[in-house]
Amino acid sequence: MAVPRELAENAANKPKVVLGVGGGIAAYKACEVLRGLTESGHDVRVVPTEAALNFVGAATFEALSGHPVHTGVFTEVPEVQHVRVGKGADLVLVVPATANLLAKAAHGLADDLLTNTLLTARCPVAFFPAMHTEMWEHPATRDNVALLRSRGLVVTEPAAGRLTGKDTGKGRLADPREIVDLARLLLAAPDSLPRDLEGRRVVISAGGTREPLDPVRYLGNRSSGKQGYALARVAVHRGAEVTLIAAHTVELPDPAGASVTHVSTAQELREAVHAAAVDADVVVMAAAVADFRPAGVAPHKIKKSDDQPDPVITLDRNADILTELVRDRRPGQLIVGFAAETGDEHGSVLDHARAKLKRKGADLLVVNAVGDGKAFEVEDNSGWLLGTDGTETPIPLGAKAQLAAAVWDEVAALSQD
Ligand code: CTP
Repeated sequence: MAVPRELAENAANKPKVVLGVGGGIAAYKACEVLRGLTESGHDVRVVPTEAALNFVGAATFEALSGHPVHTGVFTEVPEVQHVRVGKGADLVLVVPATANLLAKAAHGLADDLLTNTLLTARCPVAFFPAMHTEMWEHPATRDNVALLRSRGLVVTEPAAGRLTGKDTGKGRLADPREIVDLARLLLAAPDSLPRDLEGRRVVISAGGTREPLDPVRYLGNRSSGKQGYALARVAVHRGAEVTLIAAHTVELPDPAGASVTHVSTAQELREAVHAAAVDADVVVMAAAVADFRPAGVAPHKIKKSDDQPDPVITLDRNADILTELVRDRRPGQLIVGFAAETGDEHGSVLDHARAKLKRKGADLLVVNAVGDGKAFEVEDNSGWLLGTDGTETPIPLGAKAQLAAAVWDEVAALSQD
């Protein structure tokens, strides 16, 4: 097949991703992952299993990737593909990873191009499982997953929800957007997903609260929720038991493997966070919580009128949840706050952040500079981590998952102290 020119151009400078595709119904979602990766500047080579081609034809993968597609080791033999593909990769993803593929990978079987590639790859490898709940929970699969993880390979948790038929349960493929985000993270920071949060219970709040004025209107803020969701995803990949308390976000998929409670107002968020924090080891307040709410909610839509004066909105103060968490924390519990700051005539971003860390009493404060298109509604983020011992660690501009990994590195280090 001819390679589309725009894909072939600069392919040499692009990160090389091998996208292994297993033979499950979720194979069609591998096309979305492929699209997401090529559009974000990756050179992707698809290596399906023979079974995967029952679900998606080779022509689709060839057209979307711009590379020929083979399943076996007996094509293009002089090029020694079964070694070359794996050795040349910067990242290998397996989407979806079936129970069969996980078993073969765990035991080093190599009977097709994909399984050979898994043995020759020396780059990060991540499996995204999709199968029926019974298969995922079977002791054989559990053991294979544990073995792969013990070797430093990433095996993500599947999502819960609708499966192939009418049944629901754990075993759905993670959302393709999550997979693309994780790929970016592993390429930028290959060591960012150690299983160092295993057995830890973490609670993360995310998104922006909405305080109703009347049945139609609310006071809200510009938080997209992306940073909090990235924190939840990375924590799941690092082995934590994650509860995500999600206020309003741009449309984001629930992170696979996390338990998610959706809330709207600051008061609902407060109740949900406190309930979840009771037995948590770590609580991260990434949500943008409204400091004030309208003193009363009009039961009907507020109308304008030429005969009446314009309405004046009186605000009541909302509780500061972070301060309450610090006050009520149990021994050993770590509390992490966020601060979105702008510099002004009273001080720089860091001056305000240092004062906030002291005022709120958190163990760690993640500081983002906001304004001028920074932090809100964008994909990348940068900032600082402020510790109570005066440490100030800059976090360079990168994907929100990278900032999340830096936060968990610090949390893991603090947990060992
Ligand atoms: N926060 C909270 N409850 C609130 C307001 C904020 O728990 N009612 C938390 C946020 O989730 C964040 C931290 O406090 O982790 C700092 O939020 P920020 O809005 O930067 O600080 P404020 O306390 O609201 O201070 P100000 O807006 O005056 O800078």
